Amino acid sequence: MMLPDMSVEIAGIKLRNPVMTASGTFGYGEEFAPYVNLEEIGAIITKGLSLKPRAGNPTPRIVETPGGMLNAIGLQNVGLEAFIAKKVPYLRAVATPVIVNLFGNTLEEYGELASSLDHVSEVSGVEVNISCPNVKHGGIVFGTDPKAAFDVVRLVRESTIKPVIVKLSPNVTDVVEMAHACVDAGADAISLINTLTGMAVDLEKRRPVLANITGGLSGPAIKPIALRMVWQVAKSVKIPVIGIGGIMSAIDALEFMLVGATAVQIGTASFLDPSAAQTIARDMVRYLSEKGITDVKKLIGALEV
Ligand SMILES: Cc1cc2nc3c(=O)[nH]c(=O)nc-3n(C[C@H](O)[C@H](O)[C@H](O)COP(=O)(O)O)c2cc1C
Repeated sequence: MMLPDMSVEIAGIKLRNPVMTASGTFGYGEEFAPYVNLEEIGAIITKGLSLKPRAGNPTPRIVETPGGMLNAIGLQNVGLEAFIAKKVPYLRAVATPVIVNLFGNTLEEYGELASSLDHVSEVSGVEVNISCPNVKHGGIVFGTDPKAAFDVVRLVRESTIKPVIVKLSPNVTDVVEMAHACVDAGADAISLINTLTGMAVDLEKRRPVLANITGGLSGPAIKPIALRMVWQVAKSVKIPVIGIGGIMSAIDALEFMLVGATAVQIGTASFLDPSAAQTIARDMVRYLSEKGITDVKKLIGALEV
C-alpha cells in the first residue's frame, strides 16, 4: 500500500509532516532525543530565546488544572550566546528544520535577536512570541495591541531574510485584527494560540498557587478556543497558519488542519508523554491510510460549513 504524502511547506520551509513541537515544551530538542526520533517529526521549535539568559520566575511555577495546566515559567532560557555555542551544534546533525522561538523586552531586542540568528545557518526560520510586555512602554503586551504587533513584526522582518512566523496571543478581543496587523508587517506565517492567562487559588492558605499569581493555561481545556481562533484566522489571511492548543492526538491535529492549519504544534501533550509528537505523526499516517487519503494537504481547510 502506498503511504500518504504527509509533506507540507511553511513559508519555504519544507516539513516531512505537519507535526512541530511547541516552544517551551520540548527544550532545545536534545532533551527529547531519548523519547522521539527527531527525524520523524516535521520541525523542532526551540524554547523561547532572549538576548540575555533568564532565570525565569520563582517556584511554584506549574500547576495542573482540570483538562490542562497553568505555567508561569517566566521564559527561562540560556540566552543567545549559549544557544549558539551549546545548543546549535547538536541540532546541526539533526536532519529536521529548526525554528527558533524568540522574544524581547523591547522592540529593539526583537530586532537584534532576529539579525543575530540570521547568520546561523542551522536555523530554518524564527517564530516571534509577541505575548511579552514591552518594558519601555508601560509593560503593554506587544501581542495585544495591533500597532505594537505591527511594529515588532516589521522590525523582525527587516532584520532577517529567514522565514518569519508570528505567534499570536489568544488574550485579545479580536484575533483576526492582530493577524492582519502581522500580515501587513510582512509575516510569512502565523501560529496560534499561545496560552490563555489564568489563575489557581489555594483556599486553605488563602494564597495563589503560582508564585507569579497568574499563569498561562494550556492543554485540552483550551482546544475549542484554539480551534475557533485558527478557523477565524485561517479563513481571513492568505499566509499559512500553524494550529496550536490542546493537541493530544492525531485526531486533534487533523481537526486543526480541517479548520485551515497547514501544520500543528504539540505542547502540553509532551509533558504527559514525551514521545507524543512522534506518536501523533505516526497516527496521522495511519488515519490517512485507513481512510484512503493520499495527501494530507487535501485536508487543509477542507471543513464543510
Ligand atoms: C511550560 C510551558 C512553557 C512554554 N514556553 C513558551 C515559550 O517559551 N514561548 C512561546 O511562544 N510559547 C510557550 N509556551 C506556549 C506553548 O508553546 C503553546 O503555545 C501552548 O502551551 C498551547 O499549546 P498546548 O495546549 O498544546 O500546550 C509554553 C507552554 C508551556 C506549557
